[in-house]
Amino acid sequence: MSYPYQISSMEAYQQAYKKSVDDPEGFWGSIAENFQFRKKWDKVLEWRFAGDGAPVVKWFQGAKLNITENCLDRHLDTLGDKPAIIWEPNDPEEHYRMLTYRQLHQKVCTFANVLKNNGVKKGDVVCLYMGMVPELAIAVLACARIGAIHSVVFGGFSAQSIADRIQDGKAKLVITCDGAFRGNKTVQLKAVVDDALVQCPTVERVIVLTRTRTPVSMIKGRDVWWEDEIKKVETMGNPPCPAEEMDAEDPLYILYTSGSTGKPKGVVHTTAGYMIYCTYTFVNVFNYQPGEIYFCTADLGWVTGHSYVVYGPLAAGATSMMFEGIPTYPDAGRFWEIVDKHKVNILYTAPTAIRSLMAHGLGFVKDKDLSSLRVLGSVGEPINEEAWQWYFDNIGKKRCPIVDTWWQTETAGVMISVIATVTKPIPSYATLPLPGVQPAIMDEHGNEIKETEAKGNLCMKFPWPGMLRTTWGDHERCFKTYFSAYPGKYFSGDGCLRDKDGNYRITGRVDDVLNVSGHRIGTAEVENAINMHADVVESAVVGYPHDIKGQGIYAFVITEGDRHDNEDLTRKDILETVARIIGPIARPDKIQFVKGLPKTRSGKIMRRILRKIAEGEMNNVGDVTTLLNPDIVEDIKRGKV
Ligand code: WTA
Repeated sequence: MSYPYQISSMEAYQQAYKKSVDDPEGFWGSIAENFQFRKKWDKVLEWRFAGDGAPVVKWFQGAKLNITENCLDRHLDTLGDKPAIIWEPNDPEEHYRMLTYRQLHQKVCTFANVLKNNGVKKGDVVCLYMGMVPELAIAVLACARIGAIHSVVFGGFSAQSIADRIQDGKAKLVITCDGAFRGNKTVQLKAVVDDALVQCPTVERVIVLTRTRTPVSMIKGRDVWWEDEIKKVETMGNPPCPAEEMDAEDPLYILYTSGSTGKPKGVVHTTAGYMIYCTYTFVNVFNYQPGEIYFCTADLGWVTGHSYVVYGPLAAGATSMMFEGIPTYPDAGRFWEIVDKHKVNILYTAPTAIRSLMAHGLGFVKDKDLSSLRVLGSVGEPINEEAWQWYFDNIGKKRCPIVDTWWQTETAGVMISVIATVTKPIPSYATLPLPGVQPAIMDEHGNEIKETEAKGNLCMKFPWPGMLRTTWGDHERCFKTYFSAYPGKYFSGDGCLRDKDGNYRITGRVDDVLNVSGHRIGTAEVENAINMHADVVESAVVGYPHDIKGQGIYAFVITEGDRHDNEDLTRKDILETVARIIGPIARPDKIQFVKGLPKTRSGKIMRRILRKIAEGEMNNVGDVTTLLNPDIVEDIKRGKV
């Protein structure tokens, strides 16, 4: 077997799980033996709480390594000519690209030299704002090669969001594309970066990859073309680029994610623990077999792209597919066409994609050969039973296990999931914790519920190697957000229940975070954006069930006086404002203009009531007598959109 740590039976799972709890250091230490270190660790785990209660977690202290040597160099002898990345373009007429491990290694080294030529050093933060092209994976790996910290910003975020992230990370260099192809649209990425950079004095250099050949402004002394910079390295004779030696706990990347406050936080992952956790979970959850074609549809702008398009699969020597486009272009059969064309064995996608393709009907599935598929995966939000069944019946043809993988940006890798071919899938359950994962369900008094059958808030009572280490530049925030609600435990922000057999079912966020099409969006963030609109006095945002997106965004908005004589136009203006401030993904699905918001005597908005109204549960809003302004509730009910 090529992965000594691959779990192949229920007994092996139970044994691995038991060992991981009884002897976590022995368990993870023996898995780490399968990776390449320049120097081995002195201690597998340090886990304690500092005087103020802030967590200290360090894995594999003292070890020296570079993650790209694990993802690339060590495979060259055995897998050098095997495909590392297969890239499928937006337009099916354009030829796909394939990069072998040797080619990818070469390209990463060349671009790493480009970064060095442009002044990037170990510990510098590099911001990437690109479409899903192979060069994005190359750039990510090139950063890791030289010890620069990458901060990838999803291509759907606005200039303001990029500026916030660049400023927070103090990035010196930005890598972007002229534009990106998405379905029948071209997104002007460089123009968005230009707008962002007006507010970002730390940025000295922008490297621009040509993809769409849209006209872009290139600022002298600041902006350079990717292709020109590559040529410079080639004329230097393409010198090798030895990997920088990193400490186990050196930061690998920052990835911003939404929380319950207005400002996204930069989740920081480090090197050794992250690598081991992604790879271990990749190999086990999907039961990956060498030579298989694995297709994760996630964008590299999200954690799923980081862990399960790039690092996990490559460290495992797998073939990872990257897709530039969208599931419905040129038609709703695109995923199935890709599976058929490349003989994909493992498909990992999001419930929102499944629901949207399901709505297009089986016509797009029927003439596709999906017999290569062996394992199906789902991530990002709870998968409802109907979508699960459709996926199982029509895509997996009742042959392929579905792994419903619960995890988060903060966890780096899958935490609770079916292990394909080993543990049993149950529709709408993430099922069992992976080895090394010790969940705890907490009751409303803050105590762990010890009974097997339980319902409450989901915590982790022991660290795992992929656990976030801090939030960039603000350790206090990390402590407050994740470790203060239940002292000594990591709090996920999700609610869950556990059945009599110990299977977990995730019920959704219990904080003010929405999950819209699998994207995490903080209600406070959307409110801040809406409030930027000149006519808006105050707003409150809640989620409501949405057939395709999982959750939709419902905004209650108070505008100034009667300044908006045309509600429809004001609505559009607000949508445009949100798109400018955060990005199109955060645009509310519904906006209701209201005269007031239900508030407690202390001035807090009673979101519980608004949520009920948004969900259409008008008669179930609960007690309103403690409100400062109970009459407003009837008023809001009448105006529901
Ligand atoms: C939700 C994505 C139910 C959950 C990897 C979590 C899920 C948030 C599942 C993290 C799942 C993710 N079942 N809910 N299989 N996977 N979630 O950080 O609410 O973008 O807290 O990470 O998505 O979203 P994030």
